[in-house]
Amino acid sequence: MTRTTRLGVIMNGVSGRMGYRQHLVRSILAIREEGGVLLSDGSRVMPDPVLVGRDEDKLRVLAERHGLEHWTTDLDAVLADPEYPLYADFLVTTKRVDAIRRAIAAGKDIYTEKPTAESFADALDLARRAREAGVKSGVVHDKLYLPGLQKLRRLIDSGFFGRILSVRGEFGYWVFEGDWQTAQRPSWNYRAEDGGGITSDMFAHWNYVIENLFGSISSVYARAVTHIPQRVDEHGVTYPATADDAAYAIFELANGAVVQLNSSWAVRVHRKELVEFQVDGTLGSAVVGLFGAEIQPRNATPKPVWNPDVPDPRDYLGDWHELPENDVFENGFKTQWEQFIRHVAEDAPYTFDLLAGARGVRLSEEGLRSSAEGAASISRR
Ligand SMILES: NC(=O)c1ccc[n+]([C@@H]2O[C@H](COP(=O)([O-])OP(=O)(O)OC[C@H]3O[C@@H](n4cnc5c(N)ncnc54)[C@H](O)[C@@H]3O)[C@@H](O)[C@H]2O)c1
Repeated sequence: MTRTTRLGVIMNGVSGRMGYRQHLVRSILAIREEGGVLLSDGSRVMPDPVLVGRDEDKLRVLAERHGLEHWTTDLDAVLADPEYPLYADFLVTTKRVDAIRRAIAAGKDIYTEKPTAESFADALDLARRAREAGVKSGVVHDKLYLPGLQKLRRLIDSGFFGRILSVRGEFGYWVFEGDWQTAQRPSWNYRAEDGGGITSDMFAHWNYVIENLFGSISSVYARAVTHIPQRVDEHGVTYPATADDAAYAIFELANGAVVQLNSSWAVRVHRKELVEFQVDGTLGSAVVGLFGAEIQPRNATPKPVWNPDVPDPRDYLGDWHELPENDVFENGFKTQWEQFIRHVAEDAPYTFDLLAGARGVRLSEEGLRSSAEGAASISRR
């Protein structure tokens, strides 16, 4: 018979958008339904969550809906409970550092949403504390697990691109202002004082996407702006939008490639998916999204000639080839949870730790600094 070990997981902020949908339902409950995480020796680890939040009624409703037995509003009590050695954090960003510090002090392993902190100093401090306390840590790197980016990973590994010259990416969509249609994202995202801002949100992702796929970042220049100065919140109250809602950035890589990424909550979508990256290399190019990936190899590249006097009949979009779906890609949040649980249970390798999270926070901070100062940041030339 398969041996199954229980792993108590403290899930803090589980009533939120990410905490509920991606971490509880799509990850922990899905893993439980599959009988736990399979380890290399054939045994299994069954995550056993305790739901933590501020509102007891909300927690009870969630627990009852999913047949779970444990919930509490007392974080300190559950941090003191040795039955729960892993602390997971999906709180609003402003509340994260304090909660993770307490969890590290209690000797818990840490799994957390990004960004890990609002400042690089705090993010680095968390990484240091975790190392000194000898606890393991993991930070969500979900975009790397998107089917489109996994296909891109394969293209890179197969040598398809030759030398990668440049990457240009568009992320964004129109987030309603909240007046005549309700906003589809929580209002704190648009208030700097509550930890909002697209730079701190998205550069935490762009850092790991770039460093894991294309190479380490040597400099950043960004222009962060607030296009929509006023929005209406969940209660119908108008508030000043103090956080940036668009960031236009150029990242230079140590290997010479240039990555240019636009992130915006004030843009209307004219592309196949909500995020798309075009990667151009000496031997071929690709355009990848959340799911899809199209390629154009060097030896199937058309030869356009610029002539403003004659309409061009060529269908340039028809020159690309969609990659086949050779695999079924699982929900990335779940896959990452499984990898982290293996890291905790049998020391399987895991590199997306609090230090990786801190590099993401540094990129946001340096991006905002470059926006304020008008010059590239990180390594100044
Ligand atoms: N990985 C991703 O793709 C991704 C996407 C969106 C958000 N996030 C991150 O996830 C985190 C949560 O974002 P969300 O969109 O789920 O937000 P949300 O507002 O839906 O949820 C926030 C959670 O924090 C709790 N909370 C709010 N204020 C609190 C306070 N004062 N004290 C204690 N708890 C408090 C709420 O009850 C809720 O459980 C953020 O750090 C955000 O950056 C990550």
